[in-house]
Amino acid sequence: MRRPVIAGNWKLNKTIGESLDLVRSLKPLVAEVTEVEIVVAPVYTALAAVAAELADSGIRLAAQNCYPEPSGAFTGEVSPALLKDAGCSHCIVGHSERRQLFGETDAFINAKTTSLLRAGLQVIFCIGETLEERESGQMFDVLSTQVREGLKDLTAQQMNNLIVAYEPVWAIGTGKTASNEQAEEAHAFIRGLLQGCFDQETAATTRILYGGSVKPDNVDGLMAQDDIDGTLVGGASLKAEDFARIVKFGK
Ligand code: G3H
Repeated sequence: MRRPVIAGNWKLNKTIGESLDLVRSLKPLVAEVTEVEIVVAPVYTALAAVAAELADSGIRLAAQNCYPEPSGAFTGEVSPALLKDAGCSHCIVGHSERRQLFGETDAFINAKTTSLLRAGLQVIFCIGETLEERESGQMFDVLSTQVREGLKDLTAQQMNNLIVAYEPVWAIGTGKTASNEQAEEAHAFIRGLLQGCFDQETAATTRILYGGSVKPDNVDGLMAQDDIDGTLVGGASLKAEDFARIVKFGK
């Protein structure tokens, strides 16, 4: 019922040339895969070139960030419409690196989400608790606030174009993946939150991805969980063979 999504977030890595090399290597490795939605998120400067390279493939293009306003005196920012113009179908918002390093609030993430959906883009909406929040028993409250505030005033219909990514901050880039059980517990909780915020159908149909040190050797166990519908992959998405193996989870 929920089509799996495997998304690669390349973060601040790769020149335009290196980005093209990566998608050229990736395309033949995943050419036969039709049952999975495959997304890659290069840096802004590589988006248009990668979009052209992906035109003959089923791989979709995401930006890693955006600014909610459509145009104006916002030096250095990029709007959803410009991302679409560059060939993006998706955009990541609320990544923990943006929350932590750039002080992004739930309200700002909500503004970006709304603006992206209005522009006709798919949103990959990231949430997740820090180690301190988990160990002090605040995990469920943190996730609840991030979902309620970040998705505030969205309609159930808009949720058709939104994918949630649960990324425990302590598992990002650390090599410490959440156990299958820890991830499933959080995903089931998030699905319950979606039911409370929207309705049963939205909860049942929204894809919830897991992110945090996903690798070829742990993806199968994660993807076997009932409420895990895909993965948001950082480091392992920078190598075509590793990312292709993750795309072909369970095989
Ligand atoms: O967006 C991706 C996540 O931050 C995960 O990164 O796979 O390098 O831990 P990672």
